[in-house]
Order: sequence, then C-alpha cells, then structure tokens
Amino acid sequence: MIEQLDRIEQDGLAALQNASDEASLEQWRVAHLGRSSPLMMVFAGLSKVSKEERPVVGKRANEVKQALEAALAERSAALREAALARALQAERLDVGLPGRPLAHGRLHPATQTLRRIYQVFAEMGFQVFRSREVETDEYNFQLLNFPPNHPARDMQDSYYIDTGKERGDNPVLLRTHTSPGQIHAMRHFAALDPANPPPIRIILPGMCFRYEQVSARSEIQFTQVEGLAVGARVTFGDLKGTISDFARRMFGQNVRTRFRASHFPFTEPSAEVDFECFVCGGEGCPVCKYSGWLEIMGSGMVHPNVLRNGGYDPERYSGFAFGMGPERLAMLLHRIEDIRYFWSNDMRFLEQF
Ligand code: PHE
Repeated sequence: MIEQLDRIEQDGLAALQNASDEASLEQWRVAHLGRSSPLMMVFAGLSKVSKEERPVVGKRANEVKQALEAALAERSAALREAALARALQAERLDVGLPGRPLAHGRLHPATQTLRRIYQVFAEMGFQVFRSREVETDEYNFQLLNFPPNHPARDMQDSYYIDTGKERGDNPVLLRTHTSPGQIHAMRHFAALDPANPPPIRIILPGMCFRYEQVSARSEIQFTQVEGLAVGARVTFGDLKGTISDFARRMFGQNVRTRFRASHFPFTEPSAEVDFECFVCGGEGCPVCKYSGWLEIMGSGMVHPNVLRNGGYDPERYSGFAFGMGPERLAMLLHRIEDIRYFWSNDMRFLEQF
C-alpha cells in the first residue's frame, strides 16, 4: 500500500511537469486528484485495510494528497507568471527612446510686444481701455479736430465701409489710428459724473487700418498703443516724464528720449518722440540709419476742442496723449527688416519668437 502511494506521488509529480497550460493542468487535476484517481481509490479502500495498517496508510495518503495539491498550486502559479512575462516581453517599449516633440503654440511677436507695453504702463498706473475697430468719420476725424477736407486726412487714407450719405456725411470706416478711443474713453468716464468728470490714465491698444501701398515699411493693418491722461493740472512735463520713464522701463535705465515739435490736429502743442537707439546705444548703426535716434511715437497735449468733445471742460482739465506702433518697436528690438512678416502668417517667421 505504501509503495503504491509512493508511486502515485512520483507519477503525479512527473506528469505535472508536462502540464503547460490551464487546460492540461485541469486534466492533470482530474487524473491525479479527481474522484476516480488512483489516490482517491486508496482513500475509498481504506476501510478494507487492516486496523494496524490503516493509520499508517491513511497518514501517507494524506501526505501524498497534500504534496500533489501543493505541487499543482506551485505549477499553476509558475505558469501564470511565465504567461505574464511573455505578455510584458511582447509589449516591451524602449523607455530610452526620445519622445516625439510636442508642437507648442506661442504668442505672436506683436502680442508679446503689446503685453510688455501693457506691463510697463500697468506699473505706472495706466489701465487698458478697449475701443472699437470699426468707426465713424465723426469719431475717427471730426471729434479729433480734423476739419472737413483737411489735408491731414490724406496722411491716413481710409478703408470705407459705406459713404454715410444718409447719416449726414458720416461714413463708417476702419479706424486709421487708436485716437478715436480717446473720445470714447472721455465720454465713458465723463458720464460717470458729468459735473465733475474723474481723472483718466489709460492706454488704448488695438488694430488699425490704412489704405496704403504695402511695402517693407508700411502695412495696411498694424497695432497701435494710445496713451491718455486727463486731470486737473496735467502738464507737458508730465508727458515728458511719463514717456521717458516708459523708455527706461522698456529698454533700460540709460535710454534717452528727445522731443521734436510736430503737428497733429488733436494735440497742441504736439511732439514727435525719439528714443536713443537701443541697438547701438546712440553710437550710430544701420537700425537707426547712423543717426543714433529712433522715431517711436507721436504725442502732445490734448487739444481743448478734443477735451470739450469728450465732455471735459478745457478750462478745468488738461491732458496729454501719445500713440505708438508696437510692430515698429518689435522690428527695432529684433531687427526685423520687413513689416510684412507680421501678418503674412509664415511659420518660419512666427516660430522664431
Ligand atoms: N494718432 C496718431 C497717429 O496715428 C498718433 C498720436 C496719438 C499723436 C496721440 C498724438 C497723440 O499717427
């Protein structure tokens, strides 16, 4: 009996080595531990074994049963592990392989320059005031003190949207500059308290349009940043101080500024502002055409008629205004030689910023 059990154990263990998947393990279990397996036959025949032998045989039969069960558990765990290892091997990936580069979006160079300008003026206490791109002749010209048929209009040839005949000769056009925003802003703030309009300190950024021959130096569309400060005792000294401070914050402490007398219908007196060339530091270079200076903006004291049109009494209030082109600043900063790059959507240009 004991020898038979030894053989059952050896045969079972040996056969188990040939079971290599779920199905053959199950077959093995039925054959070696199942109800009609030789081992179970031994258990079934125990009652016929003599009283003396029975405990010895029973004990040995139990040992064999436990050994076979343990071997089955071990074998099936080993097979599962091997299957997992095979699956991992099949899905193997090379973590050292460099990834595919992600295409990052980025801000347009004009937007980057605009945001830099906003930041500098924010530090100086200026808020951003947004104004429309589609304007009337009244706002774009008349309220800004351009007399009808004044030759100054020729400087800013316009894209007209209609003739405005049915509205008393007040055509709709694309704004040629951000200055009409001055009127919108003053009227907005004056309406808050018409008897005592509050002081104003704002910048007005946005797209402008002019009907021009497109060239390396001029585009039919461009952004401008207008500045406007109105208050009880705003002086030309405030204008100079504000702009000089802007120049230093934008281009460095040593940048000098220069004001040249000029003319705009909506400012009096008016000045063209030059910054010392921040490329060569005033030495003279191709960017400043060897003059040491760069033309940056138009400026002046808000004309009394314009203050009045905005709802501010010129007897009680004064103000200054300025306007500049961020693309021009970006061109100077990055030595971009052709303004047409800005709006031609060429990735080779845009990806450089
Ligand atoms: N609007 C003027 C232009 O487009 C610039 C300017 C703004 C000048 C404000 C003076 C004051 O050329």
